[in-house]
Amino acid sequence: MFFRKKDSDRAPEAAAPPAAAAKAGDGTVSVSLTVNGTPVTASIDPRTLLVQFIRENQRLTGTHVGCDTSQCGACVVHLDGRAVKSCTVLAASVDGGKVTTIEGLAKDGKLHPMQEAFREHHGLQCGYCTPGMIMSAIDIVNRKGTNLDEATVRHELEGNICRCTGYHNIVAAVRAGAANMSSSRQAAE
Ligand code: FES
Ligand code: FES
Repeated sequence: MFFRKKDSDRAPEAAAPPAAAAKAGDGTVSVSLTVNGTPVTASIDPRTLLVQFIRENQRLTGTHVGCDTSQCGACVVHLDGRAVKSCTVLAASVDGGKVTTIEGLAKDGKLHPMQEAFREHHGLQCGYCTPGMIMSAIDIVNRKGTNLDEATVRHELEGNICRCTGYHNIVAAVRAGAANMSSSRQAAE
């Protein structure tokens, strides 16, 4: 019902594991990914979803599962620099990929500007949707730039559901975070 067009743009469909992820005698496949800058390799069931790999294999539980219908966006991570719903991706199908999760955003003990904006603008209540919101928000900035109007933010966030808030503070946080990212980039230049 929700967000089909953008989801298909964003998220690779779950697909058969590629030949590169060779099957072992016990039916597992060896998968190597770079997760938050660290190379990791694991033998997994070929049916393992990327979100399971992240949460259960890597124990990075900031990435959440909020539905079983690919609608909620709580599971959004960055795969090779683009936001994907990690519940729609087989880990073995992205062997060799680079994954960034919410745990990989803060640097040197300092929150990412988008995390900081969610904190400042109180863009959350229970926080369950927040990691996915933030990963999607950064992707929006990467695709649409740092000067985001409200309509653009609301449209682009259609693949992320919050069950607590009225979205008002989330939208304000994304716009502020985008502006903060602009300042950070300028400061870094
Ligand atoms: S858990 Fe992936 S979209 Fe809901
Ligand atoms: S803050 Fe609770 S689901 Fe969004």
